[in-house]
Amino acid sequence: MKNLKTILAAALTLVFLTACSDCKTTDTMKENNTLETLKTRRAIRQYQDRMPEKALLDQVLEAGTYAPTGRGKQAPIIMAVTNKEVRDRLSQLNAQVMGTDKDPFYGAPVVLVVLANRDMPTYLYDGSLVMGNLMNAAHALGLGSCWIHRAKEVFDMPEGLQMLKDWGIEGNYEGIGNCIIGYTEGELPEAAPRKADYIYWVD
Ligand SMILES: Cc1cc2nc3c(=O)[nH]c(=O)nc-3n(C[C@H](O)[C@H](O)[C@H](O)COP(=O)(O)O)c2cc1C
Repeated sequence: MKNLKTILAAALTLVFLTACSDCKTTDTMKENNTLETLKTRRAIRQYQDRMPEKALLDQVLEAGTYAPTGRGKQAPIIMAVTNKEVRDRLSQLNAQVMGTDKDPFYGAPVVLVVLANRDMPTYLYDGSLVMGNLMNAAHALGLGSCWIHRAKEVFDMPEGLQMLKDWGIEGNYEGIGNCIIGYTEGELPEAAPRKADYIYWVD
């Protein structure tokens, strides 16, 4: 009798666990981590005054290199700027293009400059996808980020061209974007509501 009770209890536990693991599968499908990351990433414009760990930056950069590229040619390159002097110089040139003396990088300690080779017809798309990967990967790892524009103008300027030369970059490169990175100060901003006419189904 005691044995029968034990067998029954074990069988019930097994049925319960199987049912739960099914629930879990369904929940995972609904609450997919990647989708959640894509939806909760926000443009961050306030940063803490501390440098993210290199191991985290390595992971962000690696994610950038896995962005799809036209014909798989990997046309973009990423300059990972953690040097404060260079970061400040890039900020200054960017501000100059904007006609302001404020820091367009919002105090972020890291700037990942994405450039792409103009010789590839898809360079602009390729570079933009790298930017997207960098921002989403940063968010997935608990870092804040924001796309800061005017990389094209900065690296078309003699000062920007000289920087590329100093870094040993040769080729027909255009600045695509500056992905600023750091630890977010304060709360994550709310996403703007998505416009009603974003998606058109064509069934
Ligand atoms: C091509 C591009 C250029 C951008 N340039 C700037 C910029 O120069 N400065 C800035 O503060 N934000 C910039 N942003 C960030 C956008 O303002 C931000 O993504 C937008 O307001 C939506 O907010 P969210 O990213 O939090 O969803 C840029 C974004 C993109 C995609």
